[in-house]
Amino acid sequence: MKLPREWGQRIGRARNFISTNLPVLPVPSIPEIRLHRAGPQSGLWRLAEQDPEFSPPYWAHYWGGGLVLARYLLDGPHIVAGRRVLDLGAGSGIVGIAAAKAGATEVIAADVDPYAIAATGLNAALNEVTIKPLLTDLTKGKPPATDIICVGDLFYDAALAERVTGFLDHCLEQGIEVLIGDPWRAHLPHSRLRLLAEYIVPDFGASASSRPSGIFAFVSKTSRQNLGDETRLTWPWV
Ligand SMILES: C[S@@+](CC[C@H](N)C(=O)[O-])C[C@H]1O[C@@H](n2cnc3c(N)ncnc32)[C@H](O)[C@@H]1O
Repeated sequence: MKLPREWGQRIGRARNFISTNLPVLPVPSIPEIRLHRAGPQSGLWRLAEQDPEFSPPYWAHYWGGGLVLARYLLDGPHIVAGRRVLDLGAGSGIVGIAAAKAGATEVIAADVDPYAIAATGLNAALNEVTIKPLLTDLTKGKPPATDIICVGDLFYDAALAERVTGFLDHCLEQGIEVLIGDPWRAHLPHSRLRLLAEYIVPDFGASASSRPSGIFAFVSKTSRQNLGDETRLTWPWV
């Protein structure tokens, strides 16, 4: 995809800033992956000062949803091996990187934030995997050609969650499988999920006593209605 020149320049500046100021650190719960991550000395505020369109730097941190989904893919590589994967809302790129390491034939990492695209590119190179970055809001269009969509931590905002849910419905209609990793954010579409696994992973800004994060299959309205009580999503798991 050809980007407007100005966007290409922003991504270039972001790459320089990230590689200079965000140290490469091991990822908690995912020793297979290293990421550029913001630390106290990174000075992200300098980026915000230079760029009036700077949005919250989700790409500079790790999130429960991405961590749990990356762990799940690395523990079960057959889920994505030999398949085309779309990492929707890629942030740092952690989910796409895990998918590529697990043997996906193609990984597209989509995000609306040019800084996330820059971070994903750098992090992919750092972890020696190939990822195709896509700077666009896919929720406004048709699903791309892919076999499985992996969504890490994208249900933190009501309007976004509604849009993402509608988009994922179109994906199911096209025969695309959908996996979600999430630490039980407020706008998770519970009625559309089947819990597959749970892991205790850290989450940016959360206390250690938080509930385990979940991996969910996103299912059609009808198949969720046909599920029995044993799959009802409640906490605690007793
Ligand atoms: C909380 S972060 C999660 C990042 C990563 N998936 C993870 O779990 O570490 C959410 C990411 O979704 C991106 N995002 C928000 N709205 C989006 C949209 N409509 N399409 C694609 N990405 C979006 C944000 O820019 C941000 O990078």
